[in-house]
Amino acid sequence: MIWDRLLRNLHLVTLAEPGGGWGMVRDAAIAIRDGQIAWLGPAAELPHQNARHTTDLQEAWVTPGLIDCHTHLIFAGSRVEEFERRLEGVSYAEIAARGGGIMATVRATRDASLETLVETGRERLRNLMREGVTTVEIKSGYGLETATELRMLRAARELGRELPVSVITTFLALHALPPEFADDRRAYVELVAGEMLERALAEGLVDMVDAFLEGIAFTAEEVGRLFRAARGQGLPLRLHADQLEDGDGAALAASFGALSADHLEYTSEAGVRAMAEAGTVAVLLPGAFYTLRETRRPPVDCFRRLGVPMAVATDANPGSSPLLSPLTALNMACILFGLRPVEAVRGMTVNAARALGLASDRGSLETGKRADLAVWRIAHPAELCCWLGADPLELLFIEGEPVVPPARRLVPSRPAPLRPSLRPASRAARRPPRGR
Ligand code: NIG
Ligand code: FE
Repeated sequence: MIWDRLLRNLHLVTLAEPGGGWGMVRDAAIAIRDGQIAWLGPAAELPHQNARHTTDLQEAWVTPGLIDCHTHLIFAGSRVEEFERRLEGVSYAEIAARGGGIMATVRATRDASLETLVETGRERLRNLMREGVTTVEIKSGYGLETATELRMLRAARELGRELPVSVITTFLALHALPPEFADDRRAYVELVAGEMLERALAEGLVDMVDAFLEGIAFTAEEVGRLFRAARGQGLPLRLHADQLEDGDGAALAASFGALSADHLEYTSEAGVRAMAEAGTVAVLLPGAFYTLRETRRPPVDCFRRLGVPMAVATDANPGSSPLLSPLTALNMACILFGLRPVEAVRGMTVNAARALGLASDRGSLETGKRADLAVWRIAHPAELCCWLGADPLELLFIEGEPVVPPARRLVPSRPAPLRPSLRPASRAARRPPRGR
């Protein structure tokens, strides 16, 4: 049998060990057929070398492509003013109560065209790919009205078509209460759980459903209304839970059999126990913890003790986690939350795949799984967590096809051209003006 592609002269980090290790194999090879891993192991055991293409990876380390399982990558506008307010001591919750925070992004996103959302989202997603991401989840939640929620989800789908990366879409219309429903929360929840979800589903825009359960957002009863509707449609569930206070969010997520509960800084042991029993993944978001200068850490020891798998994601968003660097999220998971490097990397591969319900086809390197690979110029896989700003990615393979990591862009908050006045003047512009 001829392979489509043979990768040789590499070291493997399979993350396929049930015990939770790296699964390192030095001096290894990978054979790819039909976009999947057809064979992998020590080069000395390679059954044959018949392949259409052979690539010498020059002793690079190969991990599964990274999976960023929680992002709010599609939005418009900027929240730098809020960043400054928070540094002056105003809290995230106070800013939200004054109509800023998520609502500031909602106003800008409602005004943005599909093209703008796609264009700015594309730049952000290219930054994630630059650091190894081959699968990304993108949430709605900055529309809070049918037209804009659908437009956000269409933009996410468009990115999945344009770029080789897999995009998973999440319907998060229960993210904040829009001011037009300030006097009738119930009507908003009914709209979301009814017409809005139905229309998004009818257009094929929804892979999963999420909600923000928090004192500043929605109650357990309101989330339950949406979750029942979503479950009735067979949709997988996620939940933003216990970020700013213990709202029994982890237990609620578990009671609905949610794939994941996310944030979890204030989750109690009872909540962790419920997650363990339901098989709900804990998605840790150290970027939001860092940006909001939180002090209460998620109960990592308890997750370990009770066997709750931990995932790590960027939570990329314009307010609480302006972070487009998955490797920085790994570093923060180690430094701020005390994860071991192997736990952090598993958190952005094998456990992130579980949080998205995709563990059967990606997240670890095993025969039969997708050949989504990140090729790193490092001396040991723990270096992915240890360095900041090292730019170690050499190459990606997505479904077995090589993808050159895109160049980094510095200001991914607005569509290109970024700052026309700073661009070198074009020939035409430099030509002296003709006499009148
Ligand atoms: O995951 N917690 C709610 N949602 C986002 C914040 C979004 C925002 O501030 O715009 C989060 O942190
Ligand atoms: Fe979030």
